[in-house]
Amino acid sequence: MKTIEITLNRSISRYSIEIGSNILNNIGLLLKTKLGLKDTALPKIFLISHLNLNTLYGHSIVKSLKDMGFQVHVECVNIGESVKNWATAEKLLNKMIEQELSRSSIVLALGGGVVGDMAGFVSSVYQRGIRFVQIPTSLLSMVDASVGGKVAVNLGLVGKNLIGSFHQPSLVMADLNTLKSLPEAEWKAGLGEVLKYAFLKEDRGAFYNWLVENKTHILMRDNPDLIEYIVSESIRTKSQFVARDENETSGIRILLNLGHTFGHSLEAASRYRLAHGEAISIGMCLSARLALKLSKTSQAVSDQIVNLVKTFGLPHQIDKKHGFTPSDLMRHFKYDKKNEGEIVRFIVPAGSVIGHCEVVQNVSEQVLKEVFEEAIH
Ligand code: GLY
Repeated sequence: MKTIEITLNRSISRYSIEIGSNILNNIGLLLKTKLGLKDTALPKIFLISHLNLNTLYGHSIVKSLKDMGFQVHVECVNIGESVKNWATAEKLLNKMIEQELSRSSIVLALGGGVVGDMAGFVSSVYQRGIRFVQIPTSLLSMVDASVGGKVAVNLGLVGKNLIGSFHQPSLVMADLNTLKSLPEAEWKAGLGEVLKYAFLKEDRGAFYNWLVENKTHILMRDNPDLIEYIVSESIRTKSQFVARDENETSGIRILLNLGHTFGHSLEAASRYRLAHGEAISIGMCLSARLALKLSKTSQAVSDQIVNLVKTFGLPHQIDKKHGFTPSDLMRHFKYDKKNEGEIVRFIVPAGSVIGHCEVVQNVSEQVLKEVFEEAIH
C-alpha cells in the first residue's frame, strides 16, 4: 500500500491518501488506525453509496466495520449527475438527523465523483461540519475529485457544483481493485484527467513520455503496477497544488482547471451526455489552440497536447453531430466558477516546454469564436 500525505498550509491540517489493493476488506482497521480512533469511543458511521456499488462491495465493507466494533448505517442514492442536487442532499441530511449522527460521527463516501461530492457536501453542512472519508471507486474520482475537499451539489442544469464548500476529507482510501469493474468508457474518461497532469507537472515531460511509452498497457489495464503508478502520480501532483492553495485563492490551484472552462461549457451544452473526461480532453486541446492564438505557447507544445489526447483515443475536437454552435458554447461561460466578476478565465499552456500553464482573461469574443469554429468537425 502506498501512502501520500497532504499537508494544508492554510488550515494547518493534514490527511493521508492510501492507495492499494484489498483496502475495502480492511476498511474498519484502516479507519481506526489512520484516524487514531479509540475502542472506547468509536464514532457512528454513515456510509453513502449507490445501489450497484453497495451490491458489489457493501457487504464486505460493513462486515469489516462491524468486526472492528463500529455501528454502521448505509444509505444509497441513484447514479448520475442529475441526482447530485439539493433535493438529494436534503434527503440525506434528514437521514443523518434520523440516525442521530453527532459531531463526532463520520460519513463514508463509497463511489465515484457524484457520491463523493454529495457526501462531502452534506458532511460539510451537517452540524456545521463533520468528518468524512472518501473511498473513490472510479479512476476519475481517485485522481481528482476525492482529493482536495471541493464538495458540492448542482443547482439546475447550468449550475454545476454551484452550491458547495471546501471541506477536506479526513482520509482517502483508493482500492485499485475497484477499477477492475469500471466500464471501459469510464476508464477512458478518467484518463482525460490523468493526461492533464502531464501538462501541469514541471518534470520536463517525464510523465508525458511515460504515458506515451506505456500507452498499450494503460489502455488494456493489464498491469497493476502501472495502474498504481498512474493513480499515485496523479494524486501526488494534485496534492502539491492543493497544499499550496487550499481554497483556490492564490492563483495556484486554479491551474488544475486546465481545459475546464471550455470543457464545462461542452458538458453543459451536451446536457451532461458528454463525459467529464471527454469534455476536458477536448477542452485541453481548445486551450492549446487558444494559447497559440495568444502567442502564449509554441506549436510544439500545442501539438504535444493534441497528440497525447489522440494517443489515448480521447476526443480532441468537437463532433459536429452534437450541433453546438460557438454562441451556444460561449453562453455557458458566464456560469463558470473561475470567473472573476464578469471576466471569464481560461487556463492555457504557457512557454515552450510542457509543464507550465497560466490563467488568461479578457479574451475577445472573436478569438473564442474562432477557437470553437476551428474545432468543430
Ligand atoms: N478539480 C480541480 C480542483 O480540485 O481544484
